[in-house]
Amino acid sequence: FESLAKIHKYLFDEIYDFAGEVRKVNISKGNFRFAPLIYLDAALQSIDKMPQSTFDEIVEKYVEMNVAHPFREGNGRSTRIWLDLMLKKEIGYVVDWSKVDKEDYLLAMERSPIKDIEIKFLLKNSLTDNVNDREIYMKGIDHSYYYEGYYVYKT
Ligand SMILES: Nc1ncnc2c1ncn2[C@@H]1O[C@H](COP(=O)(O)OP(=O)(O)O)[C@@H](O)[C@H]1O
Ligand SMILES: [Mg+2]
Repeated sequence: FESLAKIHKYLFDEIYDFAGEVRKVNISKGNFRFAPLIYLDAALQSIDKMPQSTFDEIVEKYVEMNVAHPFREGNGRSTRIWLDLMLKKEIGYVVDWSKVDKEDYLLAMERSPIKDIEIKFLLKNSLTDNVNDREIYMKGIDHSYYYEGYYVYKT
């Protein structure tokens, strides 16, 4: 999480006053409520302990981080870069995001808390060993929808 927080801070320092900081409200999107605040720190600690030595393990960790959704905004962009850095470091691949259909990706992420088979399939078919091409993994930024907002709810 420390690495992810640094990525978030780097990306959003000039835009959000909460850059790199854990959210202080409960949030939901669509029908999904991300980790409730009271469990968020515990969730982040247990995610830190998850293994990350295979493709499957890395995607499972990514899915759990998406469920945690630690930031008030910008989770998608920062967490995709975090995912690519894990893939690069551990297995020598990154995702070529230009090959991942944006709609398919969002549907797969919406379903990932229940079943991760779709997101694993999508990402596995878009891996590249061209890991030092900045253009390739910065493309992950484009897989966000600028109009997407959260509902903030009380417990
Ligand atoms: N209903 C949902 N269920 C689970 N994950 C979702 C849902 N909607 C969006 N997501 C995930 O959240 C990300 C968007 O998070 P957000 O904080 O808005 O980041 P960004 O602004 O960088 O896109 C999406 O890319 C997707 O991974
Ligand atoms: Mg957003």
